[in-house]
Amino acid sequence: MAIAQTILTQGIANEIALVDVNVDKLRGEMLDLQHAAAFLPRTKISASADYSNTRGSDLVIVTAGARQITGESRLNLLQRNLSLFSKVIPPLAAKSPDSIFLIVSNPVDVLTYVAWKLSGFPSNRVIGSGTNLDSSRHSLWGKHGDSSVALWSSISVGGVPILSFLERQEEIAYEKQTLEKIHKEVVEGAYEVISLKGYTSWAIGYSVASLARTILRDQRSIHPVSVLAKGFYGIDGGEVFLSLPAQLGRSGVLGVTNVHLTDEEAAQLRESARTILEVQGQLGI
Ligand code: LAC
Repeated sequence: MAIAQTILTQGIANEIALVDVNVDKLRGEMLDLQHAAAFLPRTKISASADYSNTRGSDLVIVTAGARQITGESRLNLLQRNLSLFSKVIPPLAAKSPDSIFLIVSNPVDVLTYVAWKLSGFPSNRVIGSGTNLDSSRHSLWGKHGDSSVALWSSISVGGVPILSFLERQEEIAYEKQTLEKIHKEVVEGAYEVISLKGYTSWAIGYSVASLARTILRDQRSIHPVSVLAKGFYGIDGGEVFLSLPAQLGRSGVLGVTNVHLTDEEAAQLRESARTILEVQGQLGI
């Protein structure tokens, strides 16, 4: 609902079709949003438990699934959300065979792979929200959440690359700990919000709406989102979806940007890929 609300207020879509199994809640949400029509850009809002309502969509955003309770990891949700995806993805793909899928449900990288397999879509039309949000929390790639990779080598302050700046100060040993602490805070960001308010919503809402805008308006800007990563940055162990800096537009993923990584960062990224491949190997799809 946070994604829908942000898309509405920012006038990103002409029409929003909501689907959920809980028909009363769904109708309540639809009416509540429709009642705001006088204050919003003109958008048609519909809602139904029937997937036919989504027929001919340009963009399909999937948030369905169990979400983390306090302290629970994203990976722990996999079994529950996997069986849900096998029911949700095929009818969505059938109703909108030319759409772009944007997967938000967690664990997002693995479920983006699952959606790719179940939809039969070409990989450029299946995208996971990935680390687009973590990048707002900080500059991260790789697997959304616990094993994400912080690309310190590509961060600069006032035009000066931060690592070389720190090395010049000869404070790198001390600062490295600080950098690790910052990364840890980003990784734990969602856990903290969940423990305080029960779930995360606004940040992921804005993050996904920004992806919807880039795609639907063909803005061709670069976002760290989950894409088929095989062949990039030495990731060659199998078909795996991971966040990489991808250029997005009306036809989905237009390309992946080649950013220089340190050996350590590239190794961490490959390790992230290995973690996901291990999990995928146990899925049986
Ligand atoms: C978060 C959830 C969406 O990081 O994974 O807020």
